[in-house]
Amino acid sequence: MKIEFADARPTGDYALVLPSADGNRPGAASLSDLDKIEATLRRQRFEGEAGSAAEAFTDDGGTARRVLFVGIGSNSAGEAAEKLGGTAVSRLLKSGEKHAVIDVTGMGFDADAAARIALAASLRSWRYDRYHTKTKDKQKPTLETVTIVGGGADADERWTSRWQAVSLGVAFARTLVTEPPNIVYPESFVDLCRPLSELGIEIEVLDGAQMTELGMGALLGVAQGSVRDPRMLVMHWNGGADGGAPTAFVGKGVTFDTGGISIKPAQGMEAMKWDMAGAGGVAGAMLALASRKAKANVIGICGLVENMPSGTAQRPSDVVTSMSGQTVEVINTDAEGRLVLADAITFVQRTYKPATIVDFATLTGAILISLGHEFAGLFTPDDELADRLMAAAATSGDKLWRMPLGESFDRLIDSPIADMKNVGPREGGSITAAQFIKRFVDDGVKWAHVDMAGKAWSEKPSDTYDKGATGFGVRLIDSFVADHLER
Ligand code: BES
Ligand code: MN
Ligand code: ZN
Repeated sequence: MKIEFADARPTGDYALVLPSADGNRPGAASLSDLDKIEATLRRQRFEGEAGSAAEAFTDDGGTARRVLFVGIGSNSAGEAAEKLGGTAVSRLLKSGEKHAVIDVTGMGFDADAAARIALAASLRSWRYDRYHTKTKDKQKPTLETVTIVGGGADADERWTSRWQAVSLGVAFARTLVTEPPNIVYPESFVDLCRPLSELGIEIEVLDGAQMTELGMGALLGVAQGSVRDPRMLVMHWNGGADGGAPTAFVGKGVTFDTGGISIKPAQGMEAMKWDMAGAGGVAGAMLALASRKAKANVIGICGLVENMPSGTAQRPSDVVTSMSGQTVEVINTDAEGRLVLADAITFVQRTYKPATIVDFATLTGAILISLGHEFAGLFTPDDELADRLMAAAATSGDKLWRMPLGESFDRLIDSPIADMKNVGPREGGSITAAQFIKRFVDDGVKWAHVDMAGKAWSEKPSDTYDKGATGFGVRLIDSFVADHLER
């Protein structure tokens, strides 16, 4: 989607998009026959409620023009902006219109809000058509360009210096998540991330043999049932002060999760292609941060494995020794994400001494029972880090809800034969999973865990995505870095 900014509406062929706040007439950016148009809006019962929309056709100085009114309710400027850009694109993407002009003149959008119209428009236009070979012309998108009018002189700069990068990062994450597991597996995931080095990101990769050398028995136990060799992918962005302790974002990258020998039911197993969405979000965030040259030292690290049942797969009751030296009794081979994260976290601590670690993982079905598809679960013992991440969630739209941790949950994963077992009881399953990860975090390191199993993939469209991969995590990380590491 091509994005442009302008001071005044252009001439020629385009669909005009006008925002309308709750109960109000469309803003000053009006049309000569607005009275007549308002009658047609009333007949469509359009009252400007957030997310509503109505269409009219008018003669605009001799040109037949489609006018799309988008309700923005009484939302804050940022939310209104995203509703507006997203709704405009979802309505017009396949409408036959090639060009949409969103006119916010007189609506009080500042430069950032105007640029966020562009962000939402760009995010909502994302789709993945690589494997559709028979789409009928009428079903193909037509919209190519969005022009935002009346957002002020700095809107364009705000877009190119911040939100365009975020849009590219989200698109990259969605691509990684959407691609099927015969295409995206540990080695090919790394290959797809290699071009990030062109943005100034340093890339380091460990293969299975190198991880064996380092004693990553927890991650390798998961990988051993698959013919795909695992990878540990490390991406460094050093945009901050020289020698400043980095912040590490760790992603669960299980490129397909069959459950292993504790195999999952066939029904719905295809969803487990997106069990690498934590890693996808981290890689997308690194792309965004490097594209906008964030002034922060950040490490993105992805533990990449495929969890398969086979003659070489690990068994329930196997005991593995993690890189930390701690031993784990593998009760359920389907609780694999925490095993992967454990070694990724030990590795990043030993090698790069981060001050803060935030991990992103589609870790438990139980978080869906707790929070549905509305929130990802946030687990951290650190109130300040919790507040910062909650603030980033609120501004980014990647919503979080804080969940508890505690000693009594921790005791539930003690094992009779090893230091711990990889599952607790069914009840509180997301919390014991978080407690498991916590056992691998060194004293003095700030840590938070985001269980995003309910947020990686959506069965229904929103303002900023269609059905499918959401790109969750990219915007959260970008906002956290912008608001707490770059100032
Ligand atoms: N990848 C799954 C979690 C998941 C489930 C994500 C549903 C998205 C939708 C994870 O590896 C898993 O299998 N977790 C088990 C843990 C259990 C065996 C303790 C689960 O949640 O059932
Ligand atoms: Mn699993
Ligand atoms: Zn999994």
